[in-house]
Amino acid sequence: MIPLSIPHLAGNEWKYVKDCLDTGWVSSVGAYVTKFEEMVAKFAGAKYGIACMNGTAALHIGQILLGVEKDDHVITPNITFVATLNAIKYTGANPILIDVNPADWQMDLDCLSIYLADETELGEVELNGEKQTYSIVKKTGKPIKAIMPVHVLGNIGDMDRLVSICEIYNIAIIEDSTEALGSFYKGKHAGTFGQIGTFSFNGNKIISTGGGGVIVTNDEALAKRAKHITTTAKASPMEYFHDETGYNYRLVNILAAVGVAQMEQLPGFILKKKAMDAFYRKELAGVGDIQFQKISSDVDPNCWLFTFRTKRMRELLAFLNENGVQSRPFWVPMNRLPMHDKYEFISNKDQSNDVYESALSIPSSSGLTQEQLQTVVDTIKSFYK
Ligand SMILES: Cc1ncc(COP(=O)(O)O)c(C=O)c1O
Repeated sequence: MIPLSIPHLAGNEWKYVKDCLDTGWVSSVGAYVTKFEEMVAKFAGAKYGIACMNGTAALHIGQILLGVEKDDHVITPNITFVATLNAIKYTGANPILIDVNPADWQMDLDCLSIYLADETELGEVELNGEKQTYSIVKKTGKPIKAIMPVHVLGNIGDMDRLVSICEIYNIAIIEDSTEALGSFYKGKHAGTFGQIGTFSFNGNKIISTGGGGVIVTNDEALAKRAKHITTTAKASPMEYFHDETGYNYRLVNILAAVGVAQMEQLPGFILKKKAMDAFYRKELAGVGDIQFQKISSDVDPNCWLFTFRTKRMRELLAFLNENGVQSRPFWVPMNRLPMHDKYEFISNKDQSNDVYESALSIPSSSGLTQEQLQTVVDTIKSFYK
């Protein structure tokens, strides 16, 4: 079976993990954690990086940093991996789900701006003893504390427009850039458009630490607090004095060691993914009714996971998996999951469902050989013949 997306561990992973084992620095403090944070932040062009045990934890902490609390609102697209919504629920906030564009599968900014104009008004809410201005949802009287755009599959939507909408409505941005390490919009890296960006390094991402995440920010105070609350909010190096309810969310040194080795290989992985993307686009153009995800000319994507749309998605999915080509459907839209289906879903035509019904991901690992890529293409072509 040609796998969908597996890690490519071809560099210094063994060497650095052995170093951790030899020196006993295996846990949540150690030189590799700091180095990994610095490497990710530097690559993304952010001032600070804070390593977490996974991307979900990074999204959860990002919201706490921005004061998201029970019954507040957080906006997010309806097409995302469930972790985005789960992280909102961990804070007790209520998500507002926005439909996606049919072409690039990113949040529909027309839907977003119409919703904000019609359904919210600016008002003051107290946070940490100070009055702050937020967009308040008229129906609930609760503030929108953050928006979490998701850079779906490493593609990026219209960030200029999103940032200006958020300025008008005073909404803080936490980017779910978990899939977008190596993706740029107008030369600026994903995760650096708002107050906070997040990355994931689980097994299927462009680099992997097995499990892991990093928060990036340019704000020193947010960075310090992120480190503090991910390490149980211990306020003194000696005393076990903790000044708030913290989290044990830190990435361990042994995994950060894998991360450092993976970061060293990231530029090569991106080149491999771009070559893969170009090959698939060339070979699959005009095959059956296949439609590619639209990438704007402002975006330089990491080409993380090749996914296309076809009306025969279910049939093709079964065919590929039966014929040695691992493939997967897209995420079930959030408004169709039983624990998230009661939240407000802002849409004109439920594009999310159309995308879900037709999108299919095919093998995209950095380590795929040309022969394997050819097999994937030949198998798809044989289905449509
Ligand atoms: C869009 C999206 N958000 C959040 C996550 C959560 O990241 P993690 O699996 O590292 O917790 C992932 C990755 O799985 C993701 O793809």
